Amino acid sequence: MDMLKNFVVFVLICVLATGVFIYSGVYNVAASQPDNALVAWLLSSVREASVEGRIEDIEVPDLTSLNMRLAGIRDFDELCAACHTPPGRLDSPVARGLNPPPPDLTEEEGSPQEFFWITKNGIKMTGMPAWGATRDDREIWPVIAFLQDLPGLDAAGYQSMLEESRSRGTAAMDGAAGSVPNGVAKMAPEFY
Ligand code: HEC
Repeated sequence: MDMLKNFVVFVLICVLATGVFIYSGVYNVAASQPDNALVAWLLSSVREASVEGRIEDIEVPDLTSLNMRLAGIRDFDELCAACHTPPGRLDSPVARGLNPPPPDLTEEEGSPQEFFWITKNGIKMTGMPAWGATRDDREIWPVIAFLQDLPGLDAAGYQSMLEESRSRGTAAMDGAAGSVPNGVAKMAPEFY
């Protein structure tokens, strides 16, 4: 009986302490303030396990086509570069102000499934948007194809690939030359 009483008291103290923590405002939510090591570890472990468990069934299309990658760099430059700084550019004010900071995708190793899932679904409370809210899967894959090239590109390589893409007028997520309203972009059929 005593043990049960102690347990109930213990649970009540935990609930109370959590309530005090939440409503006291002691935790600083400022993005300018780095998370402490425990919170940072907790958030990244939850994220990794969460993504890991949800990507198994994703079927990766053929990502090797040059056209697809050229469309991908264009999408990347227009939609992602403000946060994920491309080679040879300085971090934008957005990239510098975000916490957690957007990862440098020129250095990130990740499977296409993982990158696709994150790009499509976004990550809560981080600033990484869910592009699947406005684009279908076929519009998202080209930028994932391009992410395979990104770690191998220096500033000049990035710029020349981008110019090649612009001269061909290919993009998938934003539509050719950004002229198509968001979400109704036409995918060039030769990608698939
Ligand atoms: C407004 C800023 C912002 C934009 C725009 C943005 N991202 Fe992100 N992205 C982030 C942040 C912040 C993270 C880190 C999230 C975290 O720490 O859990 C992230 C994480 C990622 C990751 C995971 C990387 C890894 O190694 O775990 C991928 C992949 C990614 N973004 C792809 C993209 C693509 C592709 C686009 C454009 C279509 C894009 N992002 C646009 C902010 C952004």
